[in-house]
Amino acid sequence: MKRLFSNGLSLGLVLLALLAVDAVRAQTHAAPAATQKNTVVAFQAPDESAMPDGDYGRAVKLGEQIFLHTQLHAGAYVGNNLNCASCHLDAGRKANASPFAAAYVVYPAYRSKNGHVNTFAERLQECFRYSMNGKMPAPGDPVLVALESYAAWLAKGAPVGGEIAGRGFPKLAKPALPADYLRGSQVYLQSCALCHGANGEGQLSDGKMAFPALWGKQSFNWGAGMHSVDNAAGFIKANMPLALGNSLTDQQAWDVALFVDSHERPQDPRFTGSAEQTRLKYHDSPYSMYGTVLNGHVLGAQP
Ligand code: HEC
Ligand code: HEC
Repeated sequence: MKRLFSNGLSLGLVLLALLAVDAVRAQTHAAPAATQKNTVVAFQAPDESAMPDGDYGRAVKLGEQIFLHTQLHAGAYVGNNLNCASCHLDAGRKANASPFAAAYVVYPAYRSKNGHVNTFAERLQECFRYSMNGKMPAPGDPVLVALESYAAWLAKGAPVGGEIAGRGFPKLAKPALPADYLRGSQVYLQSCALCHGANGEGQLSDGKMAFPALWGKQSFNWGAGMHSVDNAAGFIKANMPLALGNSLTDQQAWDVALFVDSHERPQDPRFTGSAEQTRLKYHDSPYSMYGTVLNGHVLGAQP
């Protein structure tokens, strides 16, 4: 392992953290987390052992591998160290971590982000462009076919068009106090830096990503859903610290989400040449820090 000790923490603590990662994986397989959203339809994705054989089965399996190890299996379309499963936890099975099956059944759908009806494949393309800071696979690319096969298999038996419990990330109520950068930095140091690094850079283990970057070059770009503080707050509240979801208060989740989303990250690929203009066009929301001034610096200003 390298780069684990930049923040002065002991090997023991880091090993504990790694154990926690295993623990949460075991735990989420055994008992899917209870949902906090309106329960519309309860749904359980099929067991791993039920994965089919044959050509379709191979596509499903490949889709799962792409989802888990995105750089390794779809490297041409990935520009950072993240995997789909860095945010869609437990291989896209975890409720309140935007489970893949719950998404699959609601497409095609209108999205205000691009102003038209999106197929599921187009929704996948956007994840590569923004969350993975990469390039969109062309329609029909085997990467999209495999991911869609995996999603369809996970959704086997789910109602088409149904709202599945635990879809997306939970929406948190507005915090009692406005989200605060300084308070967020304290939550970060106390509850996140051990795994994600003192500078949000994540950590490698044997040259492979062990803990994903939260900001900086290896993270999602300014166009990604997670850059929006409300999305990040919901994700963090339900899922972080890893294995300890729902242990932060709502206020702590909002504060630390604001802190994380107030750092530089790769440019929005729709950048018009000016952060002010790009903000007006794409990020005119109180939850986006893009194009705002922090400590005399305009976030997102660099090309
Ligand atoms: C940095 C975290 C992150 C990563 C990495 C990521 N996503 Fe997402 N994903 C999100 C967020 C946040 C949303 C919700 C965005 C929104 O609604 O604006 C989302 C939404 C989605 C949706 C739609 C969900 C729904 O219920 O409508 C799909 C499908 C999806 N992602 C697939 C993928 C795939 C496939 C990958 C890998 C190629 C990926 N995501 C990588 C954070 C991430
Ligand atoms: C025990 C280690 C650990 C701790 C502590 C931890 N995380 Fe994570 N976090 C992870 C891992 C591992 C993932 C990726 C999930 C996976 O691969 O299963 C992740 C994923 C994330 C992601 C989505 C992926 C990305 O890179 O953007 C965000 C955001 C995040 N964590 C924020 C936080 C915040 C905020 C805290 C503190 C409140 C925190 N985490 C505490 C291990 C940890």
